[in-house]
Amino acid sequence: MEKLLCPVCKKNMALVGSSLRCESSHSFDIAKEGYVNLLTGSKAGASTGDNKDMARCRKSFLDKGYFEPLAKGLCQIISRENASTVLDICCGEGYYAEYISRSTSAAVYGFDLSKEMVRLAAKRKSGARFFVANMSAIPVGDGFADCAIHLFAPFCEKEFARAVRKGGCLVSVCPGKTHLWQMKQTLYATPYENEEDNPVLEGFELEEAFNIKADITLTSPEDTDALFRMTPYYYHTSESDKQKLASLQTLTTVTDFYIRIYRRK
Ligand SMILES: C[S@@+](CC[C@H](N)C(=O)[O-])C[C@H]1O[C@@H](n2cnc3c(N)ncnc32)[C@H](O)[C@@H]1O
Ligand SMILES: [Zn+2]
Repeated sequence: MEKLLCPVCKKNMALVGSSLRCESSHSFDIAKEGYVNLLTGSKAGASTGDNKDMARCRKSFLDKGYFEPLAKGLCQIISRENASTVLDICCGEGYYAEYISRSTSAAVYGFDLSKEMVRLAAKRKSGARFFVANMSAIPVGDGFADCAIHLFAPFCEKEFARAVRKGGCLVSVCPGKTHLWQMKQTLYATPYENEEDNPVLEGFELEEAFNIKADITLTSPEDTDALFRMTPYYYHTSESDKQKLASLQTLTTVTDFYIRIYRRK
C-alpha cells in the first residue's frame, strides 16, 4: 500500500506486520479480507455509506455482467492513457476495480465510505487494493493517480484534483439521457430523460464526452428488482407503480452511460 498517507498526520505509511503504520506511529490494521479502514475518530467504527443489503444487491447484479460494456469502455480508456496507477473513487463493491485490475496492467486502488462495500470489494481478491475512506480526505499523496474513475458518485473536485497527477485524467460517469428508458416507461406514464451535464471542475479541463449504450435483457424478476433498487427511482415510486415492474418476467431495456473525460491541468 505504498504512496498512501496517514489520515491523521498526512505522513507516509508503510506496511509493518499486518498493519499500515506512519512515521508518527499511527497504525491501521489490515482486515482479514485485505482492506484497511482509514476512517478516523467517531466515524471509524460507524456504519456509514451504503448498507449491507445495498452492497450485496449491487454485487449480485453487477457480477451478472449487465454493465460489462461500461467496464470494457473504462479499460479501453485506461489502456489508451497508459495509466499505471488507477484510483477508483467511491468504488462501491469493487466490480469495476476488479474488471480493470484483471484486464489491464494498471495497479488499481479503490476506496469507499461504506465498510461493507469495501469488504465485498476486497473479498474479490483481484489484486486491486481497497480502503475505507471519505472522498473529502482521500488518504493518498498529491498526484497519486494517473487516472481516477468516478462512477455514479458525488463530487469533491478539490480532492480529485489533488489525487490525480498533472496531465492525468478523471473519468466521471453518470446515467445518460436514455438510461433504463424501458424500465422508466414501465413505471411512469410520462418518463423524463436524464440530464447529461458537464460540470466545470476546478483543476480539470473537459476533454471528451460520449455515451456507451447497450440493450440488456433482465432475465428474471430478481434481476429487475436488483437493478431497480440500485436506482433513485426505487425511493420515489409508489407501491402500485412498483407492482407494474414486479409483474414482469423479463425486461429488455437500454443502458446508457454518459462518460466525461477530464484532463488534469
Ligand atoms: C451509487 S454507488 C456507486 C458505487 C460504484 N462506483 C459503482 O458504480 O458500482 C455510490 C457509492 O458512493 C459511496 N459514497 C458516498 N459518499 C461517499 C463519500 N463521501 N466518500 C466515499 N464514498 C462515498 C457510497 O458508499 C456508494 O458505495
Ligand atoms: Zn500519522
